[in-house]
Amino acid sequence: MDRLIRKLDIISWANPYQAKRDLYQYLMDYENNEDDWRGFYHLNENEGYSRNEIRTKPGQYNVALMCWRPNQGNKIHDHCESFGLFKVLRGCLEEEHHICREDGDAVVHHADILIEENHVNSLESFTGFHRLKNHSDDDVAVSLHVYAPPLEKCTFIDEEGKRCVVSMRFATKSVQEQE
Ligand SMILES: [Fe+2]
Repeated sequence: MDRLIRKLDIISWANPYQAKRDLYQYLMDYENNEDDWRGFYHLNENEGYSRNEIRTKPGQYNVALMCWRPNQGNKIHDHCESFGLFKVLRGCLEEEHHICREDGDAVVHHADILIEENHVNSLESFTGFHRLKNHSDDDVAVSLHVYAPPLEKCTFIDEEGKRCVVSMRFATKSVQEQE
């Protein structure tokens, strides 16, 4: 993980086009080894998934390990000001894309994709909103997410179009952040 962090520290985040290209390549290059991320692994008992902080560099990026129980998923949301990419480290995630209806603020289900282990996917939804879910009925899934700038807020939306901006929090904070 330290090697990845060193690479993230030299990305020019002020140039989003190049930053996305570099980030995609670095996540592709990241060697998925459970020994490397086990220290950040944590499952929530009750919530849809567990967001575990690996690193936050204020104003630039943050990195989180998401842990999903079987079939757990999050709600339909966007990422406000942040873009992001993620790599599936264990299992397989489903992603639903949602688009805003032209006649109002509500969203409609547009498409589903599957992201398999060791694949990298963009979190910058072209359709506006998305949700992720563990595809498995009986095994946990783990994914590594990088957001720039650090993901602080998401807009959640229900099927009637009711929106709610929520500050994001971590289930576990990194030791680095606590110091
Ligand atoms: Fe998301």
